[in-house]
Amino acid sequence: MDRSLTTTGNVPQSLNYYRIQQQAFETMVTRSKNARKLDYLSSLLLDRKDAKEVRLFNMFPAVINRYIELFKDTRKNVDQVRMKQMYVSSFSLGLVVIVSGYGFFWFASSVSRGLIGAGALLMFISVIASVSSSLATLVEDSSLLYDSLLWVEKYNRFEKYHDNFQNGTQKIGDSIKQIKLSHVSFTYPFSNEEVLHDINFSISRGEKIAIVGENGSGKSTLIKLLMRFYDPSKGEIDLNGSDLKDYDIKNYRDNLSATFQDYSKFKLSLFENVSVFRRGNNDKVKSALNNAGLESLLKDKDIDLNTILSKEFAHGIELSGGQWQKIALARDIYSNAQVEFLDEPTAAIDAKSENEIYKHFLTKNKGKTIVFVTHRLSAVKYADKILFLQNGKVQGFDSHKRLMQINTDYRNMYNLQKEAYI
Ligand SMILES: Nc1ncnc2c1ncn2[C@@H]1O[C@H](COP(=O)(O)OP(=O)(O)O)[C@@H](O)[C@H]1O
Ligand SMILES: [Mg+2]
Repeated sequence: MDRSLTTTGNVPQSLNYYRIQQQAFETMVTRSKNARKLDYLSSLLLDRKDAKEVRLFNMFPAVINRYIELFKDTRKNVDQVRMKQMYVSSFSLGLVVIVSGYGFFWFASSVSRGLIGAGALLMFISVIASVSSSLATLVEDSSLLYDSLLWVEKYNRFEKYHDNFQNGTQKIGDSIKQIKLSHVSFTYPFSNEEVLHDINFSISRGEKIAIVGENGSGKSTLIKLLMRFYDPSKGEIDLNGSDLKDYDIKNYRDNLSATFQDYSKFKLSLFENVSVFRRGNNDKVKSALNNAGLESLLKDKDIDLNTILSKEFAHGIELSGGQWQKIALARDIYSNAQVEFLDEPTAAIDAKSENEIYKHFLTKNKGKTIVFVTHRLSAVKYADKILFLQNGKVQGFDSHKRLMQINTDYRNMYNLQKEAYI
C-alpha cells in the first residue's frame, strides 16, 4: 500500500487525538475550578511582582506544597477527559472491526463465487491487520509524545529561572550587632550609570535609621544592597565584622523583615497575608493585626482569618489602600526579625498619617533595628540617626537635631517641607 496514503488517511484521526490530549492538559492546568488558584500560585514564584517578599520570607516551599495539593485535586478532572478519550478510541476500534468484517465477508463471498482468488483474500487480511495496528501505534505514540512535550516545555520554562548568587555558609550568631558599609559604590546590572558613590556608614543593633533624600537619590537602591538583593559593585558590606557575602543568605533573610512601597497584596487568606507561611498561630496573627491598628477588621461578621483578600476568589473581600497598608505592617510586626526595612510603605498616604504610623512603629519596637526610607521628613524626629543622600552620595549622617545645626541643605529641605505636616 502507498505509504503517503496511509499517513494522509491518518491525519484527521491524529489531529483528533492531539486535540484531546491538549484538552486534557488544559483542563488540568487552565480550565479546572482550581485553575486560577494554580495560576496565581505559580505566578507568585515566577513573576517579578512579588519576588522581593517571596524571597525574603522564603515562601517557596509552602507555595510549592500548596500547588502540589491543588494539582492532585485537579488531576481528578483530567481523568474525566481520559474517559472521553477512551470512548472515542473504542468507537474508532469498533468502526475498524465493522469495516474490515464487512470487507472480509465481501471478499469471502467473492472467493466462494470464484470472482477472485484465495491469495487476494489472504493479502487483504494481512494488509488490514498490519495497517490498522501500525496506525493505532502511530496515533497513540504521537499523541502521547505531544502530551509529554507540553510538560517538557513547561518544565523548561521553570528550569530557566535561576538565581546566579554567590551564597556563603556563615551563620549569624545571636544577633546582628553591626552592619557596616565601606566605600560602597553601585551600578545596576545592564546599566552604565553608577547610582551610589563611595558610601560609608554603619548601623548598630537597636538603632532607628532614617534614609532621606530626593526622589532618585538612591535610597531604595541602598536598601536593596543592605538586604542583599544586589551586591556592591565596589567596596564591601560587613555584618558583625565579616563580609555579608560569606553568610548563608537564607539565614540572613530569616533575621530580616521588610515592607516596600509596592508591598505585596497576596490573593491569599488574611492569615497567610500576615504570616506569609512563617510559623505561628491564629493568636499571633490576631495580635499582629491589633498592633497594626486593624482590630476592627475581624469584628465584621463576614471576615475571619480564612477570608481571601481578593474578590477573584470565592467569598473574597477587597481591602482599601489604608487597610492594606496596615496588613503590610502587621506582616512586619508578626516577624521576629532583628532588622526591619521600610521603604516608603506609607508613600500613598498623607504626611500626617505617615507621621502617626512611624511614631507608633518606631517607639513600639524598641529592641529592633529599623531602617526606614522616606522622601518626606515628617517622621525623622523618631530616628536616632539620619542618612541624608543626594545624588547617590552621603551628605550627612547624624541626628536630626545635629543635622539641622550643621547641614544647610538638610535644614533647607526640612524647612521647605515643614508646612506639610505641622
Ligand atoms: N533596576 C534599575 N536599573 C537601572 N537603574 C535603576 C534601577 N532602579 C533604579 N535605578 C536608578 O537608580 C537611581 C536611584 O534610584 P532609587 O534608589 O530608586 O532612588 P530613590 O529610592 O531615592 O527614589 C535612579 O537614577 C534610578 O533611575
Ligand atoms: Mg525609592
